[in-house]
Amino acid sequence: MASILQKVLQEYGNKDKCKIQDPTKVEAILQKLVNDGPSKLQVITDFDFTLSRFHKDGERCDSCHGILDHSPLMPDSFREKAKALYQKYYYIELDHKMTVEEKIPHMITWYRESHNLLIEAQVSKQKIQEMVISSRALLRDSAVNVLSNLNDHKVPVLIFSAGVGNILEEVLHREKAFFPNVEVISNYMLFNETGECTSFKEPLIHMFNKNETALDSPDYFQHLKHRHNALVLGDSIGDLDMGSGIHNPGALLRVGFLNDKIDERMDSFINNFDVVLVDDQSFDFVNVVSRLVC
Ligand code: TMP
Repeated sequence: MASILQKVLQEYGNKDKCKIQDPTKVEAILQKLVNDGPSKLQVITDFDFTLSRFHKDGERCDSCHGILDHSPLMPDSFREKAKALYQKYYYIELDHKMTVEEKIPHMITWYRESHNLLIEAQVSKQKIQEMVISSRALLRDSAVNVLSNLNDHKVPVLIFSAGVGNILEEVLHREKAFFPNVEVISNYMLFNETGECTSFKEPLIHMFNKNETALDSPDYFQHLKHRHNALVLGDSIGDLDMGSGIHNPGALLRVGFLNDKIDERMDSFINNFDVVLVDDQSFDFVNVVSRLVC
C-alpha cells in the first residue's frame, strides 16, 4: 500500500523541490496528523517569505519592512538609513558560520534601530494602507486556499512574525485572507491621536526569540491545549521554536521554505526541518497536507 508521504509527494507534484532527511519519521508524523484529524491540529506560521512569496517574475518581493523601505511615500532619508541597516544586518541573520547566540545581540540592535527609524519618520496608519496597496508583498500561491480551508475546519492559525504586525494585517486584508481563525503575534506600531507611530508594543520579537517567551498572551497555547499536533512553517532556523509553547506536543511537522543562500544553508535546513521546500513559491505542499488532515 502506498504510504501517506508518497501520496503527499505525488499530489504536490514537485518532488525535486522537496528534501526530506528522514522519510520514516515524516511518514509517522503524517500518519498521526491524518489519524487525529482537524480537531487536534493547529498551524503556526512565519509571515515574511513563508506565507508571503520571496520572488515573482525574477524580482524580489517585499517583506513587511521591505514595503516601507521601498516605498516612494517614505522620505529619502528613511530609505537610505533603512537600506544601510539592512545591508549590515541581513548578512548576519543568514551567516551560517555564526551561532544563534552570536547573532542575537546584532538582531536586537537591528530591530531597535529599525523601529526608531519608523518612529522618527512618523509613519501614519493611513500611509501604511497606501504603501501596502502598491507594494510587492504577495502571498504564496494557494496560501489563501489553505487559510480558507483551515478556517472552514476551525483549525487555529497563529502567524508569528518578527516583521510589523500592522503591516502584515494590511496585506492579509488586501488579500481577503484575514479569516477568523487567524491570530497574529508580531511587533505592533502604537499610534498617537493623530495616527502617527510613536512607539512599538513590547516585547520585541526578533527572528530568534519566536517562542513562548515572546508571547504577550501566554493564554494562547493554554486555550489550545487539546490540540497537540501542529504544522510549523518557517523560512529561518529561528522559526523552529515557534511551536515551543504547544502543550504535550504530539505530531509536529516542521516545514522549512529555503528561499535564499540555498547552497550555504541547505545542510542546516535539512538537519533541522522535517521537510525542506527549495525555492518553491507556492503553499502547495501545505495545501496537500492540510487537505489530507481536514
Ligand atoms: P521573520 O520572517 O522571521 O518574521 O522576520 C522578519 C524579517 O524581516 C527578517 O528576515 C528580517 C527582516 N527585516 C528587514 O527586512 N528589515 C528590518 O528593518 C528588520 C528589523 C527586519
